[in-house]
Amino acid sequence: MITFDAVTKRYPDGTVAVDHLSLEAPTGEITVFVGPSGCGKTTSLRMINRMIDATEGQILLDGKPVQGIDPPALRRGIGYVIQQAGLFPHRKIIDNIATVPYLLGWDKKKARDRAMELLERVGLDPAFAGRYPFQLSGGQQQRVGVARALAADPPVLLMDEPFSAVDPIVRTSLQDELLRLQNELNKTIVFVTHDIDEAIKLGDRVAVLRVGGKLAQLADPKTLLAEPADDFVREFLGHDRGIRRLQFVSTEGLRLRTDLVVREGSGGSSEPWLLVADEGERPVGWLSPERPGKLEPYGTFLLGRDSMRSALDAALLSPSGCAVAVDEEGKVVGVATREALDEALAEAADG
Ligand SMILES: Nc1ncnc2c1ncn2[C@@H]1O[C@H](COP(=O)(O)OP(=O)(O)OP(=O)(O)O)[C@@H](O)[C@H]1O
Ligand SMILES: [Mg+2]
Repeated sequence: MITFDAVTKRYPDGTVAVDHLSLEAPTGEITVFVGPSGCGKTTSLRMINRMIDATEGQILLDGKPVQGIDPPALRRGIGYVIQQAGLFPHRKIIDNIATVPYLLGWDKKKARDRAMELLERVGLDPAFAGRYPFQLSGGQQQRVGVARALAADPPVLLMDEPFSAVDPIVRTSLQDELLRLQNELNKTIVFVTHDIDEAIKLGDRVAVLRVGGKLAQLADPKTLLAEPADDFVREFLGHDRGIRRLQFVSTEGLRLRTDLVVREGSGGSSEPWLLVADEGERPVGWLSPERPGKLEPYGTFLLGRDSMRSALDAALLSPSGCAVAVDEEGKVVGVATREALDEALAEAADG
C-alpha cells in the first residue's frame, strides 16, 4: 500500500504543486490520479519513487517512509512507465525490456528469457525482439514500455499518461491489455491521466485533483459518477455523466421479449420489427414485415454481463431501435425493445 500523508510539494520558485495530499493507494489495486493540466499529477507520482522529494508530509510504502529508502533500492521495486514509452533508441527491443534485469546483474540469458516472456505477455510478436524502437508503431512502443517496467517484477507500477500519445483505437486496446495483465499480476498501480473516461475505465479508485494540487474527491468510479463531491468534480465529469453511469448499471433485470424472435422464412406479423435467428439460435438480422426479404443490421449485448450502456449502444446499431440479448454462446435470449430500455433507464435514474 502507498500512503500519502499530508504531502505538500513547493517548488523553489514558490509554486505549490501538491497541497496537503492525503490518500491511500491499496495493494493490488489501480488508483488513478486524474485532473486538469498542472494539477500536480506528475509531481505526486514522482514523489513516490523520489524522483522528486516532498517538501512536507510523507509518503509511505507498506508503512515505511520512502524518505528513508535509498532511491536506487526504492526504484528497483517500482516500475515506471511514461508517455512516448521513453525507450532507448539504439537498443534492440529485447535489450530495452531487459534494462532493469541487466542493471540488477542478472545473467544475460535469464534477462533475455524474461524479456521474451514479457514481450508475449504484453501482446507483441516475439519477432519484434530484434527490432529497434523506431521500427515499431507508437502503440507497440507503449507495450514495450509496459514490458520494460514489469521486467524485474516490481510490486508497484507508476504510469504517467502512458497511453495518451496514441490514437483512440490503439488506446482502447492498450487499456484492455493493462486490465487483462492486472488481472494476472495484481500490481499496486498508480496511473495518471487527464482523461476521465480512462480514469473510470481503469481505476479501482479515482482521485480527482484540482489545480493547486488539492484532492477534490477520492472514490470508486461508480460512486464518483453517482455522487460528485462538488461543482468542480461535476464539471470535470462532464455533461454525459448520466451516460457514463450506465456502464455500472446491469442488464440483468431487463425486460425481454421472446415473441419477436422468429426463424428465417417466417412472415405474417403485426409487429413493426422481428428478429430473425438461424437454426443455431444465432441472430441473423432484423426484418420489417413490410419489406420481406430485406434484413437490417442488429446489435447484441451479453445479458447480465454487459452494462446498460452496451445495451443502448446495441439498440443504436439497428434501425429497429431494439437491442438483442445473447448468452455466452452468442445465442439469442430475447429482445429489449425501446420501451424496455426506457423503463430500465428510468429505474436507474431513480436508484
Ligand atoms: N520544476 C518545477 N519548478 C516549478 N514549478 C513546477 C516544476 N515542475 C512542475 N511545476 C509546476 O507544478 C504544477 C504541477 O505540475 P505537474 O507537472 O505535477 O502537473 P500535471 O498535473 O502532471 O500536469 P499535466 O497534465 O500537464 O502533465 C504546475 O503548475 C507546474 O507548472
Ligand atoms: Mg503530468
